[in-house]
Amino acid sequence: MIRSVIRGTGHYLPARVVPNSEFAKTLDTSDDWIISRSGIERRHFAAEGEFTSDLAIRAARAALENAGVSAQEIDAVIVATSTPDFTFPAVATQVQAGLGITKGFAFDIQAVCAGFVFALANATGLIAAGQASRILVIGAETFSRIMDWTDRTTCVLFGDGAGALVLEAQTGTGANTDPGVLACDLNSDGQYRELLYVDGGVSRTGQAGVLRMQGREVFRHAVEKLAATANAALDKAGLSADQVDWVVPHQANLRIIRGTAQKLGIPMERVVVTVQDHGNTSAASIPLALSVADAEGRFKPGDLVLTEAIGGGLSWGAVLLRW
Ligand code: ACO
Repeated sequence: MIRSVIRGTGHYLPARVVPNSEFAKTLDTSDDWIISRSGIERRHFAAEGEFTSDLAIRAARAALENAGVSAQEIDAVIVATSTPDFTFPAVATQVQAGLGITKGFAFDIQAVCAGFVFALANATGLIAAGQASRILVIGAETFSRIMDWTDRTTCVLFGDGAGALVLEAQTGTGANTDPGVLACDLNSDGQYRELLYVDGGVSRTGQAGVLRMQGREVFRHAVEKLAATANAALDKAGLSADQVDWVVPHQANLRIIRGTAQKLGIPMERVVVTVQDHGNTSAASIPLALSVADAEGRFKPGDLVLTEAIGGGLSWGAVLLRW
């Protein structure tokens, strides 16, 4: 059986770090409120002239170096993003060009904060189908470009960044002790569009628009749906939550991360948390957290790693893999 195995990780964060105190200068908010309601202490914002593809290329280079793989050995690039440089072409094609890759294929996936989980599941499917044997899977966002800076309920929560993985086809036994992706579970329900959306777009307004969110309502859906999709992925692999070594959740809110871990019965010592440093970087948050934790040497070969995310759509899902 062909498995998709993580061969390397990398990430990039823009140089500018913005602490919570910056927002208190222009908005009726405080460091205390932001930390207590979200766990966020700071986030990075891209510089003027620095675009999603720039972040993605830097993360991709870091992942290639970490994997010991050259750009010429990559046969597909998938970028999960909701903040592309252009309406088209895909950011993934700009990453290809930036890395000097002229063969294979490249495309973007748009599932907002669940984008990376969707991209990883799709890349796994392509590898299983023999369409590609080495894929760069990237999450990259510049959410600072779609913020309403007068809306304290949203603009304090998001940040910019990119994370990348090199995913490689390797032969496995088919048992759940194999390294690589063991199970994926993807879900969407478009009736919840109003809870979290961007109020512009090519077809409707001809403008990019800004993010609108009913945070309390999204929160209400998050813990329940994240725990359900995590359990569904575990069931598909014939494994249970107590066997999970590391949860790498979407980093939107520390209270959601804690609530989901508690519902799964997994102690916080086994959960990777980066939300305090990155804020919510949407599709970039999971690959960023994976890369940061990998660089810290937290994952050991054979560790069972569970990723889960929910975002606009609503779309949500989980990918279970063995390191
Ligand atoms: N500073 C101070 N006060 C604030 C701020 C702020 N930045 N923002 C909101 N408040 C106020 C509200 O106006 C409200 O005041 P009121 O009671 O007088 O009306 C009060 O604080 C409480 O607001 P709530 O919205 O109930 O606060 P809550 O505890 O729910 O926290 C938050 C808000 C952080 C947005 C939370 O609901 C959340 O994290 N939701 C989920 C976000 C998420 O996971 N999104 C999905 C991924 S994102 C994506 O897909 C793009």
